[in-house]
Amino acid sequence: MDSLLANFSAARVRRAPLRAGAFGPTDALRLLDGAGDGPEFTGLTIDDFAGRWLVSTKNLPPPDWLRQVAPAPRAIYWKRLEVKDKEPPQFWAGERVAAPFEIVENGLRFQVDFAAGYSQGIFLDQRDNRAALRRWCVATEQREAPAAVLNLFAYTCAFSVAAAAAGAQTVSVDLSSVSLTRGRENFQLNQLDPTPASGHEFYAADAREFLRRAAKRGRRFDAIVLDPPTFSRDRDGKIFRVERDFGALVALAFPLLRAGGIMLCSTNQRTLSPLTFDRLLASGLPADGGSGLRRRSAPMPADFAGEPYLQSVWIERGRTSDADNYALFAAR
Ligand SMILES: C[S@@+](CC[C@H](N)C(=O)[O-])C[C@H]1O[C@@H](n2cnc3c(N)ncnc32)[C@H](O)[C@@H]1O
Repeated sequence: MDSLLANFSAARVRRAPLRAGAFGPTDALRLLDGAGDGPEFTGLTIDDFAGRWLVSTKNLPPPDWLRQVAPAPRAIYWKRLEVKDKEPPQFWAGERVAAPFEIVENGLRFQVDFAAGYSQGIFLDQRDNRAALRRWCVATEQREAPAAVLNLFAYTCAFSVAAAAAGAQTVSVDLSSVSLTRGRENFQLNQLDPTPASGHEFYAADAREFLRRAAKRGRRFDAIVLDPPTFSRDRDGKIFRVERDFGALVALAFPLLRAGGIMLCSTNQRTLSPLTFDRLLASGLPADGGSGLRRRSAPMPADFAGEPYLQSVWIERGRTSDADNYALFAAR
């Protein structure tokens, strides 16, 4: 038990530098990532949400040594990955988390709710992508004007908040109006006014339908975020499946991207190899033909030391001469 505690303590120490994020403090991160932190931790992940830990396991309860950890967290909740009906995590130790609470990521505040269901309100594995988008929006604003950002499958709008904090105008689209309400609350937590008058729009709509309508209206964006679920069914029963439909999604979105713009394509579909994912994306893009179209993969955040299940590809749409735009983005 002592060696487990010592190794866990070392894993926490390794992650300590991440708490001073590039833009500001961060108190939500992955504390332990299974075998990535040592074979003795295989099958065990721990996410820290501002001192409340979410322990995920499959078929086994959390290990008892967690009760001995010092300094102890405020609460430990248990998420059972094998359970088919994806239920909220259950209380395991410490104090009960009775209500939604706040976490801080790169100085931005987000609401987390352990009772809200299987997803707690923010996907920690997208932290670096949110920071990259924010950095890009800061640079764009300094260079020309506020960026217009389209966040599809927006969930609680964490990407939109990161962009808005950098002065961008945002459009957030999600099938779920409940998630968009949580998104507006995240804006308000950061003193950002979630209204069209302040440059922030929210649409409860199917992402593909939104893209078709936006194309007809001639809307254009400087940055687009595509981070869909691996599988979903819209209100009319229309199915979206990453491995079948991501290419067509890219084909709908790309024409709305301004020259000099960027588009993030991200998936946690584990059955897709990087090569297959790249081909899928390429199937939705025009042939490059020297126009400065680039695709660049981004790694997962450093605290996700285990299996690199999240694939993120940034597509950059060059200007006629795209060198300046590419240099700007590569400089991060
Ligand atoms: C995995 S979450 C997306 C996470 C989000 N990109 C983030 O970074 O927080 C999936 C979201 O996609 C939404 N969704 C699923 N199918 C959709 C569709 N066809 N059109 C728009 N949103 C959809 C769900 O309601 C859910 O909020």
